[in-house]
Amino acid sequence: MSGFTENLTDLQPVRETGDGTRVYVETYGCQMNTYDSQAIGGILGRSGFAMVTGIDEAEVVLLNTCSVREHAEHKIVSRVGEIRAQRRDRGLSQPAIGICGCMAERLGEELRRSNPRVDLVVGVDNYDALPGLLADLGLGGRTATPAVVGHRPDAHYVAPPDLYPTNNSHLVTIHKGCDYNCTYCIVPATRGPQCEKDPAAILDEIRGIVDAGGREVTLLGQNVTAYHWQGELDFAALLERVAAVDELRRIRFLTGHPRDMHPHLMDTIGRLEKVCPWLHIPLQSGSDRILRRMKRLHRRDEYYTMIDHARQVIPDVTFSADFIVGFPGETEADFQDTLEVIRRVKYDQVFSFKYSERPGVPAEKLADDVPLVEKKRRLAELMAVQDEVWRETAAACVGETWRAVVEGPARRPTGALRLRTANNRKVLLKEADLETGAAVEVRITGCSNTTFLGETNPA
Ligand code: 5AD
Ligand code: SF4
Repeated sequence: MSGFTENLTDLQPVRETGDGTRVYVETYGCQMNTYDSQAIGGILGRSGFAMVTGIDEAEVVLLNTCSVREHAEHKIVSRVGEIRAQRRDRGLSQPAIGICGCMAERLGEELRRSNPRVDLVVGVDNYDALPGLLADLGLGGRTATPAVVGHRPDAHYVAPPDLYPTNNSHLVTIHKGCDYNCTYCIVPATRGPQCEKDPAAILDEIRGIVDAGGREVTLLGQNVTAYHWQGELDFAALLERVAAVDELRRIRFLTGHPRDMHPHLMDTIGRLEKVCPWLHIPLQSGSDRILRRMKRLHRRDEYYTMIDHARQVIPDVTFSADFIVGFPGETEADFQDTLEVIRRVKYDQVFSFKYSERPGVPAEKLADDVPLVEKKRRLAELMAVQDEVWRETAAACVGETWRAVVEGPARRPTGALRLRTANNRKVLLKEADLETGAAVEVRITGCSNTTFLGETNPA
């Protein structure tokens, strides 16, 4: 199978040229990148390259990068220098280093001249070019760093199921890009316009995962809830079709946009037993004034209406969200509006970020006028409020009995197991002897940070 859905197989013939060359992929940023890295593994594996899990043994290191905040990009530049220095210090040969992902797409040409040097640059829609590019690296005589970037609307990756961890949630990207233009966001530039994967291809991919032993999928996209195939199949209809796949047990999805959380979609999520009752719906700010400046296309009261409806129709639903603090023009009063939402919605998890100005985004024209020290203070206050809210939520769960699925051994303590509920709560079971994938009833005895402690009910 090609790394791309059928219609693209002819554009870049896969070359059997890897010759066992050892490749290591290091992934940064969102789950779309995690999926893409799996797809890269598939493309290179099929072309005779050997994917390795240790960076020191690799002849080629690919960094799959993120551009969403400036800090993420700085980290990559220093990481290239760090890899080169570590190899030097250990007396090992230098690997070829390639930059993939959003940063490659955004900076293509510029990265070719970067210091420390990188050997190739491949943007988000061109990973099928990797086998040829990597093979050419070994031919000698090449002087310039190749950069292959540019959007190809019909190019969709299919990551092979055998690269996935068995029984955990298997990622399935259902579309790429974004047609919203939130004023702070670089994604529409790096990932391009929203382009859907054919529902037939999505279903084939999921059946492949199930055939390989997988029982859970996470449908991925920048705005999965905006999925629409040729005007006839929306996200709710896609969920219905995915839920009809035999032997698939659980369906999650990331990320939703408040604008697309129609009552019909929430009713569908509530009705379909396989669809997990966990909604990650970023709000970004609790202030209508800031939401307008961000061009989020909805107001806070509409968000509340959506949350209230979800609570009515989706049993045991939990929520998580992203917030940005210190967006241009954000006053203390705007920030307090954000805290009010956090106190009212009672999210299970909140991901919060200091506003980071990105080159070329619409908000670049607004003055980045909240001083860094103030952004840091707001971020710390937001996290403290969320902690307080979460402690209350978590304390109220003690004594409840939940159904949870074993995901595998926990890192600590030895012998403990990691489990997850359908509504995305993590539970640690000490000294349990259960198979990965087993669904069990657990009684909640406590909570440490975001992980609950549980015990199995005596038979
Ligand atoms: N600055 C800070 N945070 C950002 N995000 C997106 N763009 C920016 C930016 N310029 C955050 C949003 C988004 C998450 C993935 O990253 O909260 O939901
Ligand atoms: Fe960025 Fe907004 Fe699109 Fe999300 S919805 S990817 S924040 S432009």
